[in-house]
Amino acid sequence: MAKRAIITGVGHYAPPHIMTNHDIEKLVDTNDEWIVSRTGIRERRILDKELGTSYMGVEAIKMLMKDKDLDPKDIDAIIVATVTPDTIFPSTSCRIQEAIGAVNAFGVDLNAACSGFVYALMTGASYIETGRYKKVLVVGADKMSSILNFKDRATCVLFGDGAGVVLLEPGDDPDSGVLDCVLRSDGSGKDCLYMEAGGSLHPASHETVDKEMHFIYQDGRTVFKFAVTRMADVSAEILERNNISGSDLRYFIPHQANLRIIEAAAKRMKLEPEQVVVNIERYGNTTAGTIPLALSEVYYSGGLKKGDLLVFSAFGAGFTWGSALVRWAI
Ligand code: UT7
Repeated sequence: MAKRAIITGVGHYAPPHIMTNHDIEKLVDTNDEWIVSRTGIRERRILDKELGTSYMGVEAIKMLMKDKDLDPKDIDAIIVATVTPDTIFPSTSCRIQEAIGAVNAFGVDLNAACSGFVYALMTGASYIETGRYKKVLVVGADKMSSILNFKDRATCVLFGDGAGVVLLEPGDDPDSGVLDCVLRSDGSGKDCLYMEAGGSLHPASHETVDKEMHFIYQDGRTVFKFAVTRMADVSAEILERNNISGSDLRYFIPHQANLRIIEAAAKRMKLEPEQVVVNIERYGNTTAGTIPLALSEVYYSGGLKKGDLLVFSAFGAGFTWGSALVRWAI
């Protein structure tokens, strides 16, 4: 029997600097009431200008290593889900690998936007299931403030900076660990949520800067319509195909983009409010960071016990979306 990948450690990092809705009111024509009622967000964290996404990944891993007493030399692989790498290359995972002294690990970045953590978790779990690797770090981290236009009220109120990480190791129990995953993409969504410049199509130039093409752009209403159905679809699908009902779940840990999207998915899964993990009011949308950050907060508050069933779900640019079913094993 092939090994399962079990989550044996977690960590997270949110920068100390808080930007409230009232702070944003001073920058663009918006107000706290609009932001809270439409999204659920009250404040978000902003990382220092001179620090990159790798800094947050490293801090999250330090928290995990302290809790687990983990020797970085034992780590085999580091997968980093992000859309805001420190640099396009070298990868953020290589920077993290050096910073934590994981001298025996290889590192790779993965871009699936807001679904990045679910995709990376599945990738990491597959590495473990092959039997080839024993300790894989899966990081979700984004410094969204680095690509936000603080003159565009349609986007700058939504996002924040943050990171989380899980450690995957092999387990023998076929009923524990990463049990199932549903991943989907639909490239026809590419014009609804994107950053236009900085890649090979539109390399940086005076023109791309003048036209503000290095910022995130979102057609919020269209993305909302897709997100609200697609995230609910995969959340329901993963329950159905594993013969699980909502009441069997300890927690639903969704991507934190909009409280209304989360509530729609939770309703479809017939969940009680206490089963749904929400921290969007404090962090906003940290893209690949949301799910591992929320999971880690639940873990460190003592909310998880061995045997708990969890579903992670996300929707993001691409479009990409997906869900994962995990039985907590430690
Ligand atoms: O994580 C990746 C995936 N992303 C998502 O899942 C996000 C999906 N989209 C959303 O969450 C929502 O569409 C938003 C929160 C972005 C917007 O909420 P909405 O209810 O869809 O609002 P809207 O875009 O339809 O705008 C409604 C009104 C508009 O004014 P009019 O045309 O009705 O006069 C906007 O101009 O609200 C206005 N508006 C704002 N007003 C105050 C848009 N942004 C703001 C703002 N403050 N920040």
